[in-house]
Amino acid sequence: MIRHRVVNALRTAALVAVVVLAGSASVVSSAHADAPGLVPTPPMGFNDWNAYGCNVNATLIEDEANYIHSSGMQRDGYKYVNIDDCWLAPQRSATGALAPDPAKFPQGISAVARYVHHLGLKLGIYEDAGTETCAGYPGSFGHEVQDARTFASWGVDYVKYDQCNIPFSDFPGMTHAEVDTQLYTTMSRALKATGRPIVFSMCNGTDSTVYPWLWGARVSNLWRTTTDIRDNFASTVTNFMGTVGLWPYAHAGAFNDPDMLEIGNGGQTLTEYRSQFSLWSEMAAPLIAGTNLTTLSAADRAIYENRRVIAVDQDPLARQGRPIAYQDGTWVLSKPLQGGDHAVALFNSTSTPRVITTTAHAVGASPAPSYRLENLWGGAVTRSGGVISAFVPAEGTVMYRVTSLSAGDPAAARPATVLSLHPSAATITPGGSLAARLTLSDDGRVALHGATVTVTAPAGWSPQTTTLRLPRLAAGRSLSRRLAFTVTPTATGPLTTLRLHAGLRTRWGSSVRLRALGGASAAVTVSSPLTSPLQAENTTGAPARTGQLGSDLAITSAGTGITPLVSSSRGTFPASDAYAAIADPGAVTPTSTASVTVTAQTGSALRPDGTAGLIERDSLSAPGTPEGVSLSVSTGGTVTLAWASKGGTAVDRSVNAPTTVTLPVTLRLQRDGSTYNAAYSTDGGATWTAVATATVAASASSGDQDVGVFHASGVAGWRTTADFTDLTLS
Ligand code: GAL
Repeated sequence: MIRHRVVNALRTAALVAVVVLAGSASVVSSAHADAPGLVPTPPMGFNDWNAYGCNVNATLIEDEANYIHSSGMQRDGYKYVNIDDCWLAPQRSATGALAPDPAKFPQGISAVARYVHHLGLKLGIYEDAGTETCAGYPGSFGHEVQDARTFASWGVDYVKYDQCNIPFSDFPGMTHAEVDTQLYTTMSRALKATGRPIVFSMCNGTDSTVYPWLWGARVSNLWRTTTDIRDNFASTVTNFMGTVGLWPYAHAGAFNDPDMLEIGNGGQTLTEYRSQFSLWSEMAAPLIAGTNLTTLSAADRAIYENRRVIAVDQDPLARQGRPIAYQDGTWVLSKPLQGGDHAVALFNSTSTPRVITTTAHAVGASPAPSYRLENLWGGAVTRSGGVISAFVPAEGTVMYRVTSLSAGDPAAARPATVLSLHPSAATITPGGSLAARLTLSDDGRVALHGATVTVTAPAGWSPQTTTLRLPRLAAGRSLSRRLAFTVTPTATGPLTTLRLHAGLRTRWGSSVRLRALGGASAAVTVSSPLTSPLQAENTTGAPARTGQLGSDLAITSAGTGITPLVSSSRGTFPASDAYAAIADPGAVTPTSTASVTVTAQTGSALRPDGTAGLIERDSLSAPGTPEGVSLSVSTGGTVTLAWASKGGTAVDRSVNAPTTVTLPVTLRLQRDGSTYNAAYSTDGGATWTAVATATVAASASSGDQDVGVFHASGVAGWRTTADFTDLTLS
């Protein structure tokens, strides 16, 4: 279900983005019924759902509140401490009132509210417009007035109102949007009637027919625009794309909500987490931390506490940044700020570093002889003649605060420069070489003199240090140089990512001193080639990489994988057939045994969708031919045997081993005609645990078959890596 929602959200988002880029969307201005002064800027705070799911309780809420208070996050602006689903007792009380689960909230919600208020913070709670919450607790349908009064009497300051289990059939002839408008208006009025200022947050963006942004500002302070966020970069991009085009609908007191922040949950890189924080701030989105703050690493906390970026989100103009340009997975956004500055985000959603360029004119800055660019992550301040550009890492975002400067010495500040490296991802053979191109642009108002660029390469590369002395570079010009490296593959493993770093020192204007002006780094993936008869296969539609070093194999790929069949209230969705593999064609006879050890897989139990293992089918190179049998381990540690029992093109059966494993795990498939016995071992093959026996259609297992190792990230556009060793056949 989630995958289908993601695809739909992407489609809608792409459409909306195109419409808005074309400038044809109309601005909706409406006065919403709630107190507009409550959240003149987007709410900031914490919500337990992403990190704790249904395991909410009073202690954890108070611990998180206490952390916000004592860590300094409160001074950064974090204020709302929000309780999500599952806080409720399963039944209403005799008087029909909502009651908290006595085990989770033994002193009641008002005691938690008192604690939170005592710290100077605000308390939020979760309810649902239907008969039950998404997790099956009593919903507010038909009880809106009573529930709103209960919340007010407890001291609740913020209500997140969900959209599960709405009895749409009770509203014949009405669309979901009409029913939602009615039910959310009822709760909005009920909250207002209590006389207590309560922020109203609509959580009905997962229903793609409700369009809450069209009417949300009249009844609420914020409304969800997308499906639930998850702790992976593809999900961040999906929710960003579902929201970026909706800028005309946001204004002070009424905001688009692309869901909570995942920073700290462990599933993404710091670069990816910084992108979420940048994009959410650029979109004037709520900054609600969906993580256990008390265990945050210093690096994750520094993201939540970047005051320069928070100031963009909390800017008093309360305008949502709008997309200025989109090309090939790169985005330029601009958000007007009070006082005339603009916050510009250069977002690279692709998996390779890109130079992203725009101009002061395009972002809406008032024309000036020069512009001050403040890098909101690095902090550097530079002077530009009008070009706004950066070499943006894969999945990264560079943010600048842009100020038009009317006068002053153009050489007084560092000129804006962009240094970029473009190494091609390559399959390196022993002693092979890699060509790279280094480009330096001077976007400032003064020339660079005596620039030196030093490029350093990691161990195993030659040369390790290259120093380039560059001629004078006039303002507004750029120059390129070619670099060549040779690589010793044994220093790298089957598939590794290595970094090249380039540092720039230069003088400018009349300055006599050499100054370091930042640098650039680029990741190069080095794949050692597969040796015959092994060959690469990929059915994901996204680029994949494979590598081999002796008996070690590695695959980096995206793809939704082979299993499971997804069943939900919305129906059963067929298994996909999207993975990358290293295949040994025709190697499996009707009576042979294959095994491989999966040694590592990127990901964690927090993002359990990736999978790696063994696969046998008639043809690994031809999707559309009968699916065969796969035995794999997920990033969550579940070993699964999946097979096509009827000879179809996708699996229709799967069995999980009863206990989860930690890597390394050896997987073994013993074939006897159409029957396959699956087992795994976590002690290097000394003892085996049976998983199940699969029988595939005779038509799909008649003769010799292909065997291979395969990997899929579990998400269509998100690439992860699996490592294997000792693929053997007997
Ligand atoms: C979802 C909602 C999530 C969380 C969950 C609780 O509908 O989008 O943010 O509140 O329900 O069951």
